[in-house]
Amino acid sequence: MSHTQATIMERLKEETKEAHKRAESQDLEKALIKGALPREVYANYIAQRYFIHLSLEKALLSLRQKDARVAGVVEEIRFHSSRAAQDLKDLGLDLATVKPLDATSKTVDYITDLGNKGSLALLGVFYVFEGSTNGARYISMALRRSYGFEGNFGTHYLDPYGEDQPAQWQKFKTEVNSQTFSPEEQELILAGATETFDSIVAVDTAINEAAG
Ligand code: HEM
Repeated sequence: MSHTQATIMERLKEETKEAHKRAESQDLEKALIKGALPREVYANYIAQRYFIHLSLEKALLSLRQKDARVAGVVEEIRFHSSRAAQDLKDLGLDLATVKPLDATSKTVDYITDLGNKGSLALLGVFYVFEGSTNGARYISMALRRSYGFEGNFGTHYLDPYGEDQPAQWQKFKTEVNSQTFSPEEQELILAGATETFDSIVAVDTAINEAAG
């Protein structure tokens, strides 16, 4: 018998390829990677991501207690809300003055609901944000050049691991692939990832529109 079955991480990459293309080719992301986004729009982008990560962390902590496989992949180092909060401090944006956009609230509700249901789709959400560190590291370099940021100032969220990023991504993939998920569970995880890419496109579009 041949064992050519794709791993869950291979499936995630392959089956969200188009969604990734849509996410990275939006105006906001294109401006980010060029370092051309106005600084206050960048600050709002981090604030909106902050709200989403806060809900994701809460949901993952709850699921981690119920499912040993989730415990095997959810580590605190991959919780990025405190990094986003530090960036907001660096940028002088007081979170108390920022409101979640409707698209952000929708995403938060989606994630919170998955947490309440104890749905493995949360791992798909987790995958999208963890995987986004691949491109985000390049964005952080562009931001340092264009805004004149030094060290990690203002880029803790986008560049959480520094030079360890490729190793951290490799580790994440290994940890996820070492868990066993039924075909039905794999579909849930894939659906969670696709839904998250769509949510991110909606959030990024709303940030752009709010910027006028
Ligand atoms: C300017 C925008 C972006 C650029 C330039 C970019 C670029 C990249 C690159 C170069 C990779 C590594 C590809 C590989 O090694 O095969 C990657 C992976 C990934 N990116 Fe992005 N990206 C961007 C935006 C985003 C956004 C907005 C998200 C979602 C929030 C995202 C989620 C992911 C994910 C999940 C992966 C992992 C794919 C895998 O399974 O290997 N990216 N990105």
